[in-house]
This record gives sequence, C-alpha cells and structure tokens, in this order.
Amino acid sequence: MNILLLGSGGREHAIAWKIAQSPKTDKLFIAPGNAGTAQVGTNVAIKADDFQAIKDFVLANNVNMVVVGPEDPLVKGVYDFFKNDASLADIPVIGPSKEGAQLEGSKDFAKAFMMRHNIPTARYKSISAENLEEGYAFLESLEAPYVLKADGLAAGKGVLILDTLEEAKKELANMLDGMFGDASKTVLIEEFMTGIECSVFVMTDGTNYKVLPVAKDYKRIGEGNTGLNTGGMGAVSPVPFADEAYMAKVDEQIIRPTIEGLKAEGIDYKGFIFLGLINENDPKVIEYNCRMGDPETEVVMLRIQSDLVDLLEGIAEGNLDSRTLVHDPRAAVTVMLVSGGYPEAYEKGKIIYGLDDVPSDNILFHAGTIAASGRILTNGGRVIAVSSYGANKEEALARSFAGAKTILFDRKYFRKDIGFDL
Ligand code: AMP
Ligand code: GLY
Repeated sequence: MNILLLGSGGREHAIAWKIAQSPKTDKLFIAPGNAGTAQVGTNVAIKADDFQAIKDFVLANNVNMVVVGPEDPLVKGVYDFFKNDASLADIPVIGPSKEGAQLEGSKDFAKAFMMRHNIPTARYKSISAENLEEGYAFLESLEAPYVLKADGLAAGKGVLILDTLEEAKKELANMLDGMFGDASKTVLIEEFMTGIECSVFVMTDGTNYKVLPVAKDYKRIGEGNTGLNTGGMGAVSPVPFADEAYMAKVDEQIIRPTIEGLKAEGIDYKGFIFLGLINENDPKVIEYNCRMGDPETEVVMLRIQSDLVDLLEGIAEGNLDSRTLVHDPRAAVTVMLVSGGYPEAYEKGKIIYGLDDVPSDNILFHAGTIAASGRILTNGGRVIAVSSYGANKEEALARSFAGAKTILFDRKYFRKDIGFDL
C-alpha cells in the first residue's frame, strides 16, 4: 500500500525507517520530511497541517493510509477532516479524532477525563481569571514545589515548577494574564509528584490495544538533568523498573481505564496514546499525548520486531487483536546531537560532516536537517539522533557515543550521561 506520513522530525524519520522495512509498503511519502526521511521515502513539500494540500496529494497519488507524527494536525482535526469528506472517508488516518486529541490539546480536559475514570494522577484545580482567589487558596493548601500548567498547547513550555508560594502566586497571575497567550487562559495547579518518570506508548483501534516497549527520555539540556527543558536529548529502552509487576499495575490502573473510558464516552480514537508516567512504585499520569514521543520513538521503533504496517492496518481495520507485536529483547538508546545554544538561540545551516563514517551499528535519525547542493546542513535545534542496539544499555550507549563523536558540525553538543539514573 501507499502511505503518507505527516511530520518532519526524528520521530518521523524513525517511523518512516520502520514503515519502509515492511513488505506491505509500496510507496512511502513524508510531508514535509527532512534530509533523513528522503533516504527511506519520498519527501513532499506540504506542511503537516495544510489539510487541503494533503487531500489533493492523497487523491492524486493513491495514498491508502495517512500516519500522523506530531500533535498539531491531530489537535486541528485532520482525522475528522478525512472522515467528513466523501472522497477521503475510506482512507484511514492513524491518529485520534479532534476530540480524542484533546487528551493532549487541553490539560483541563485530560485531568477531568482521568478523574471520571479514576486514573491515578496529581490532585489539581483548574483556574481562570474568574476564580483566581480560589487558585491562591489551593496553592496555600499545597506544599512546595508548586506546579502550574497552561491548559493548551504551549510548544512544550507551558509547565512551571516554582519553589515558593510567593513565586507560584505571581506566576499564576502572569500565566492567566497571557504568558502563553490563549493556551494559559486556563491554568492547572497541580500537586507535585515524586519519583522517576517513564514513557509508555499504547496503540489502539478504539477497542483493542497493544503496549509498545517502554522508554525514558532526558528532557533537560544539561548533564545530571539540569538546565532548561528541551524537546529531548536522548532516550533509552527498556526501563528496568518497568518490569512485569509494574506494567501489570499500569495496565490495570491506567491503560485499560483510558481505553475503556474513551470508548464509553464515544470518543473516536484509533492511533497512539503516550502516557507520561511518574513514580517507579505507584505509577501516576503526568500527562497524555495523542502521538508518539520524540526522541522515545527513536528507540521504540528499534525495539519493535514485528511489521509496523501490519499493526497500523490492525488499528485502521479495528482488528488489532489479530496482529502480532513482538518486542526486541535487546536494549536500544538514542543520543541527540543539538545545535550550540539550543534550546535558546542557535544558528542553522552548518555543514554536517562524518555521517558516512559512523560505526556500522549506528542507526541515524535526522531531526533537524536539510539537503542543499549535495550537502546535509543543520536545520533545527535538535539535529540528529544517534540510535544503537546493545545487549544492555551500556553497550548500546558506547556505540551511540562513538557515532556522536564522529559526526561533526560547528557548535555540536550532546549529553554524555543519557541513562545515568536507571
Ligand atoms: P508536562 O508538559 O505535563 O509533561 O510537564 C513537563 C514536566 O514537568 C514533566 O516531565 C515532569 O518532569 C514535570 N511535572 C509536570 N507535572 C508534574 C507534577 N504534578 N509533579 C511533578 N512533576 C511534574
Ligand atoms: N519526549 C516527550 C515528548 O515527545 O513530548
């Protein structure tokens, strides 16, 4: 079949790499893609949220399935756009409906959903300009540190963690006053949860579901998890504490009630659910995302032995229970090479050297790259994810670090402590 994948990051290169390996794939298109996706498929110069251009392309090129990488098109309703158009209705979109994508698009919606279905998460209160005083009172009832979250999408920056009550009150008022534009018209105040985080990915056809390999990402720019938050500096899978007993709890207390809750509420959801969990003993939900994680996907795809397209077909056809998902027993890691200065100001357009000289056991996923006059240039903060397999994470990391050193560009930076806390 012919598949169109929407998106342009390392996550999309990893998904494209896996889709391209399937005997079921005839043509693979990526819109808009990057220099890496062009190595496994055909890039198409269409933005991932330009629905009319996507429609024209899909019809002109006999696309049989659309796979959505990032949240933006989902929150904007690409699933519904296809479903409600007679010429597109037969073409499955892998990703939730606009309503389902609210699990990520609105933290208020997600928390209320968790409350309705008794899914363990932090206590919270939803505050807008009208009940600011209630917000102050709730903050006073909590202990430091204080967690404030913009309700809407804020490019991963909408969460503030404050050490004092005074700062928390001030920032609450600032957020409501438009710190994140419309996204923080409503702000959630949450109880602070402790423990180690991990990312659990579930694929569902709306009734049946399968749990993908668990991963952990490293969000901070600095070693030892210090400094500013980034889009993700590396990831590892498996996560040692996510053993059978832990996953049984996650399944019973979180995954099953989520899938059953969506179904019971009539929310159309055929795609990936990303559970951001915290606490290695008593898992609780920090957040839902309506897509795969980045850079977790750059390790999760390595650990899927089965045919991804077969599984995606199962999602589309509502018979995911009849498909097989085998996890690869090896460890997989990824180390992200980023532009100097990221996540603050950084330069683009640096020539990348050494891509062909990395050890043969590295698998490179391009995040922010562009091909220009025979060269590959940096084109983003996150540039290339260097993924590897190993018998354990140490062996895999040694391989990825060797590749990370071999690839050169001006002001390259990467964290040398990925996986340090596991
Ligand atoms: P989010 O955008 O919701 O994933 O939040 C970003 C990060 O803030 C998470 O990865 C956690 O490290 C942290 N965080 C969010 N909510 C809480 C909470 N209630 N307790 C502790 N840490 C939190
Ligand atoms: N790695 C976290 C995310 O994709 O949101």
